[in-house]
Amino acid sequence: MTGRLDGTTAIVTGASSGIGNATARALAAEGAAVALFARRRDKLEDLAGELDGATVHEVDVADADAVRAAIDEVASQHGRLDVLVNNAGYGSMDLARDADLGEWQKMVDVNLHGVLSTTHAALGHLAQAAQGPRGIADVVTVSSVAGRTVSGPGSNVYAATKHAVGAFSEALRQELAGQHVRVGLVEPGLVDTELTNTGDANKPDAGQASELGVLHADDIADAVVYMVTRAPRTAVNEVLVRPTEQTG
Ligand SMILES: NC(=O)c1ccc[n+]([C@@H]2O[C@H](COP(=O)([O-])OP(=O)(O)OC[C@H]3O[C@@H](n4cnc5c(N)ncnc54)[C@H](OP(=O)(O)O)[C@@H]3O)[C@@H](O)[C@H]2O)c1
Repeated sequence: MTGRLDGTTAIVTGASSGIGNATARALAAEGAAVALFARRRDKLEDLAGELDGATVHEVDVADADAVRAAIDEVASQHGRLDVLVNNAGYGSMDLARDADLGEWQKMVDVNLHGVLSTTHAALGHLAQAAQGPRGIADVVTVSSVAGRTVSGPGSNVYAATKHAVGAFSEALRQELAGQHVRVGLVEPGLVDTELTNTGDANKPDAGQASELGVLHADDIADAVVYMVTRAPRTAVNEVLVRPTEQTG
C-alpha cells in the first residue's frame, strides 16, 4: 500500500504517550519513517516494535545538546528530515500563590525551551529536505487552546509557554516561507491523555468528562497528518480542535 509520506522521515517529540504516540502511529501509517523522542525508552521501544522503520531516541528536550545530537543522528541514519512535530509538553495548573517555582521552570524548560532547541537543531535538515524532489518540509508544534486564550485561574505559566510558542511559530513561518518549510500550530482542547488524567476535581480532568467533552489523541494526530500531507502550495498554519462540548 502506498502512503502519502512514503520515503519521508519525521521526528515526533513526546512519542512515549498520548498525542505524540498517536501522531507517530498516524505518520507511520502514511509511510513515514518516524524517529521517536522522549525520556521513557521502554515506552518508545514498545511503540517502535509496532511501526515499520521507526527509531528510538531517549532524549530530554530540555537538554539542548542532547537534542541536537539526536536530531543529527536521525538525519544521518535516515538521510533526510521532512517533518518535525514538537509535541513534548508538561502542564501544572496550580494557582500562582500556591505554585512551586520548580513546576514553573519545568513548563518553561519543556514547553518553550524544548520547542526552541528542537526546532533550531532541525531547521537546517528541514530546509535541505525542502530543496529535494518532494519540495516541502514541515514544522508542526502542538500548542493548546491555552496558547490562544487564558482559560481560567491556574493556567498562568502553562498559558504563557503556549502563547510564546505561538509567537515563535508565526515568526518562523514568515522566515521560512521562501524556503518552503511550512510552519503550523495545532491547538487542542481537552484530550484524554496522561497529562489530563489528574483525578483532581479542581483541574481539567479527562477522566471525568462526558463523551463529547473530551478528545481522543487520534483526533489531534488526524490534524497533524492533514497539515503535513497538503499539496506543497498549501500551508495550514493553525488548527484549533476543541471537543464539541468544550466552551472555554
Ligand atoms: N491532553 C490535553 O488535554 C492537551 C491539551 C492541549 C495541548 N496539549 C499538549 O499536547 C502535548 C502532548 O501532551 P499529551 O496530552 O499527549 O500528554 P502526555 O500523555 O503526558 O505526553 C507528554 C509527552 O511529553 C513527553 N515529555 C515530557 N517532558 C519531556 C522532556 N523533558 N523531554 C522529552 N519528552 C518529554 C513525555 O514523555 P516522557 O515522559 O517519556 O519523556 C510524553 O511522551 C503537550 O505539548 C501538551 O501541552 C495537551
